[in-house]
Amino acid sequence: MLTQTLSNGVKMPKVGLGVYKMTDEAEAIEAITTALEVGYRAIDTATLYANEKEVGKAIKASSVPREDIFITTKVWNTDQGYNETLRAFEKSLELLELDYLDSYLVHWPVPGKYADTYKAIERLYEEKLIRVPGVSNHHEEHLLELEKTANIKPVINQIECHPRLQQNELIAFCKARDIAVTAWGPLSRGRILSDEALIKMAQKYNKTAAQLILRWHLERDTIIIPKSVTPSRIKENFDVFDFELEKEDMEQIALYDSNGRTGANSSEPDFMSHFEGM
Ligand SMILES: NC(=O)c1ccc[n+]([C@@H]2O[C@H](COP(=O)([O-])OP(=O)(O)OC[C@H]3O[C@@H](n4cnc5c(N)ncnc54)[C@H](OP(=O)(O)O)[C@@H]3O)[C@@H](O)[C@H]2O)c1
Repeated sequence: MLTQTLSNGVKMPKVGLGVYKMTDEAEAIEAITTALEVGYRAIDTATLYANEKEVGKAIKASSVPREDIFITTKVWNTDQGYNETLRAFEKSLELLELDYLDSYLVHWPVPGKYADTYKAIERLYEEKLIRVPGVSNHHEEHLLELEKTANIKPVINQIECHPRLQQNELIAFCKARDIAVTAWGPLSRGRILSDEALIKMAQKYNKTAAQLILRWHLERDTIIIPKSVTPSRIKENFDVFDFELEKEDMEQIALYDSNGRTGANSSEPDFMSHFEGM
């Protein structure tokens, strides 16, 4: 299992299973069980995904020891604020049936709240209830704002990243601060996988377009959390450790960068409108 050593010394698996949109209980448990059997040792959930209970059940039922699995969840926007976050964390632990979490992230930088939310995450870290404090969807301005109040810098920033949104500047900014980057939507939510040129490029390596893109992320030193409920794809997405992309293919993929964001842009003043009703 390939891991990345984070700034606080914790080792995080480079490839984890994302579980967004796995709301059917049997489907979620089957997907997580398959992933653990295949060798995945990281699961990425969130309160928003409404499946922390299923994640907990699948982990409990598996023969993999708890301490070998890196579990991430996130505090949802409507739970932000210092005391609210502490309460939300308790609820997540209860649903997951765990007594500590590997990583707890501020899901989005909710204006006026995210600094206090992160303060609560620092406290959870100091109390050893989480091993890795972090954030998600935080851009340069949010990270700079946190630097004013945080005693412990975020160890991880989870951001949307894929060939159509390569995030080179934000990744460089994070790297300069020793903040590890996790790419969410690493396959552009599946939208890029029918690209003929990428399919052709992947064939050179006897791989699929999904494997090619996941390998591209790894070569950029990014942690990835592809989501799939399909057993064959869960296996496929983990089979990315036995090849390397040629320089010219890395350069070709670099040309796909086209501001192809699929989610909200937290730098836009009204980005919270994206989450109305959520
Ligand atoms: N922090 C945040 O704000 C945030 C936001 C979004 C997501 N996330 C996290 O990031 C994870 C991944 O992102 P995502 O779920 O949005 O998108 P993704 O992983 O880029 O793509 C998932 C989609 O691609 C399909 N797929 C997966 N592997 C495939 C393969 N080998 N061949 C063909 N199709 C394949 C899946 O279909 P099937 O499932 O039908 O197989 C699904 O429709 C999430 O699950 C979540 O944990 C975080």
